[in-house]
This record gives sequence, C-alpha cells and structure tokens, in this order.
Amino acid sequence: MRVLVTGSAGFIGGAVADRLEAQGDEVVRVDLLIPEAHAPGSAAERTHLVDVRDAAALRPLLDGVEVVCHQAAMVGAGVTVADLPGYASHNDLGTAVLLAAMHEAGVHRLVAASSMVVYGEGRYTCAEHGDQVPRPRGVQALEAGDFENHCRVCGRPLDWALVDEDARLDPRSSYAASKVATEHYVGAWVRQAPGAAVALRYHNVYGPRMPRDTPYSGVAALFRSAVERGGPPEVFEDGGQMRDFVHVDDVARANVLALRQVVAAGDGSFAAYNVASGDPVAVRRVAELVARGTGRELAPHVSGRYRLGDVRHVVASPERARRELGFTAAVRPDEGLPAFATAPLR
Ligand SMILES: NC(=O)c1ccc[n+]([C@@H]2O[C@H](COP(=O)([O-])OP(=O)(O)OC[C@H]3O[C@@H](n4cnc5c(N)ncnc54)[C@H](O)[C@@H]3O)[C@@H](O)[C@H]2O)c1
Repeated sequence: MRVLVTGSAGFIGGAVADRLEAQGDEVVRVDLLIPEAHAPGSAAERTHLVDVRDAAALRPLLDGVEVVCHQAAMVGAGVTVADLPGYASHNDLGTAVLLAAMHEAGVHRLVAASSMVVYGEGRYTCAEHGDQVPRPRGVQALEAGDFENHCRVCGRPLDWALVDEDARLDPRSSYAASKVATEHYVGAWVRQAPGAAVALRYHNVYGPRMPRDTPYSGVAALFRSAVERGGPPEVFEDGGQMRDFVHVDDVARANVLALRQVVAAGDGSFAAYNVASGDPVAVRRVAELVARGTGRELAPHVSGRYRLGDVRHVVASPERARRELGFTAAVRPDEGLPAFATAPLR
C-alpha cells in the first residue's frame, strides 16, 4: 500500500509511518513542523515539509497514493482564546484543503485522527435513576472538595459508564470543536466524492516520542516531567477522575487496521471508532504508575486544585473497534505507564 501520512513528524503520525514501513508499505511523509509542536531548528528525515493547507504542494505527493492517514493537527486543550484561529486554520481548513486535493488527485480513501474530546463529557448513571447528563460542576462544590457529579433526582454521586460512538458530540474547547469539524468534513466528503473513511477517536495517548510538557501536552507527560525534576507529580481534584490511557504502539496498530479496512471498503462508508486500552484508570493511579517507573518513592501530591470545565470522568468503550476493526489494545496501563517514565520524549 502507498500511504500518505500527514503529521508524520508528530508523536502518533511518526509511530504510524514507522509501523507501515516495517510492514513493507510505502509511506509519503508530510509535516510542517509547526512551532506549537516542535522546537525551533527541529528537522524530520525523509519528510516533505508541506502545509496541509497548501493544495498545490500536496498535489504531486498524492500521485499513486491509495489512502491518506491524516494525523496533522494543532493539538491541545485550546489553551487560550487566542489559539482559536490556529485550531480553525490547521485543523478545519487543513482537513478541508486536504480532502479537496485528494478528490482532485483521485484519492478517495482516508483514515483521520479524531479524539475523545468530541464527546465533551463522559457518560454518567445513577443506580436508581438511570443515565443522566450532569449540570456543569459549580465553583462552590469544587471549592468544598465535592468533585463528583450528582443525580438530579436523589443527589447521590453519579457512577461513570462507558461512552460509545453514538454518544452526543459536545465539544467544550476550540480544539474539540476543530476535531468535531474534522469528522463532519470527512463525513460530507465521503458522500460527495464519493469516498470511504474511518475516524479514530483516541483516548489519552502516551508512549515514546511524546512531546514534553508544553501547555499542549497530556497529563502523563506532565507527571513524568514533575518526577524527572525530582518533585512529586501534582494530581488535581482527589485523583479519582477516571480516564483511559492507550499506548502509542496500540494507536499505530489501530491506524494500520483502519487503513487496510478502508482500502477494502466500498464508496460511501464512514465509521468512527474509539481507540482505547479498555482498561480504565484513575488519574491518581496514573501518577503513581509513572512515579514507580522512575524507581523513586514519590507519592503523588493530591492537591485538590481544580480547573473549571474539566471533565470528571470520561472513559470510552473499546467494543465497536474490537468488533469491526479487530482492534484490541495490547499494552496494559500497569505495564505501559511505568515504562513511559523513562521512555525518550520529543
Ligand atoms: N496525543 C493524544 O493524546 C491525542 C489524543 C486524541 C487525538 N489526537 C490526535 O492525533 C493526531 C496526532 O497528534 P499527536 O499527539 O501526534 O500530536 P503532534 O503535535 O505530536 O503531531 C501533530 C503533527 O502535525 C503537524 N502539523 C500541524 N499542523 C500542520 C499543517 N498545517 N500541515 C502539516 N503538518 C502539520 C505538526 O507539526 C506535528 O508534527 C492529531 O490529529 C490529534 O488531534 C491526539
């Protein structure tokens, strides 16, 4: 297979490109090395330094390509309002230009990176009163250390439940909005082109070559950096927030499975899949596992601090990806997170 991978100098795109090449596939690597993700002076071998928003530059690279794996994006939580145009430009416009260039070049198969952030909140349920959409958590409750969401009927803390792909999309940040837009552009393109596509909604990805602790990098990298500096990792709230941490090798494998599926699919098919380890873990436990990997006895500092707008629990169901893509994660957080403590970062 000849695959064009966008964002190939990035954390996940690099892992996907390497995995494809190791399996004998031909890879066209495209990355702009944007400053939000790469230090000044960074270089990437065998990479076309091309902006996905530049249709003319993409055009010759698409010759003979069977399928595109679109990982390029500006990543992060939407740190400030000033980042909004950056997300819209790299992610919304970048996807739109890429899709049009693909159509012009006769390339009609795509796998696109999406994210769990498209769901906004996790799923919550009360043992007595069933599924509920919680109200935003109030400052007063958070100040008092009451971090759970509560049942609207009986007031008891709501349990978390697995979020499947049919859940309502509810983006809460400019980044999340751009990932929802990416999925929507892809869905429209599949019908109009026509083409076939898969969107992969990754949970929290970790592993070698993850970016260091910029404001845009994930909590596992922040914990790791704290431990490297010799201090305890700071855990917000009470550390009971449930998440799913999926290893980058598993994410790369999910991409390869999706690429092969989409190449074989008929026109008009479009599906989104959660890509998760299926082994949910509390954030406090993530900090413990990362600290353990350094061999130092550093108990996490559970600070009770909070960020307004943070989601209490969000855990994806890996079931549809297992059933339809044949994807099951191989790396368990109990093994992968301690190993991450000493893995090389970018
Ligand atoms: N890391 C995670 O936990 C996570 C979770 C969910 C979804 N994702 C998604 O996975 C994808 C890959 O993320 P990552 O973690 O590898 O991030 P990353 O920042 O390491 O990689 C993204 C790459 O895209 C490149 N890029 C950005 N804009 C570009 C443009 N206009 N033209 C060409 N290249 C451009 C960057 O230079 C970078 O190398 C993204 O689409 C992201 O939204 C990541």
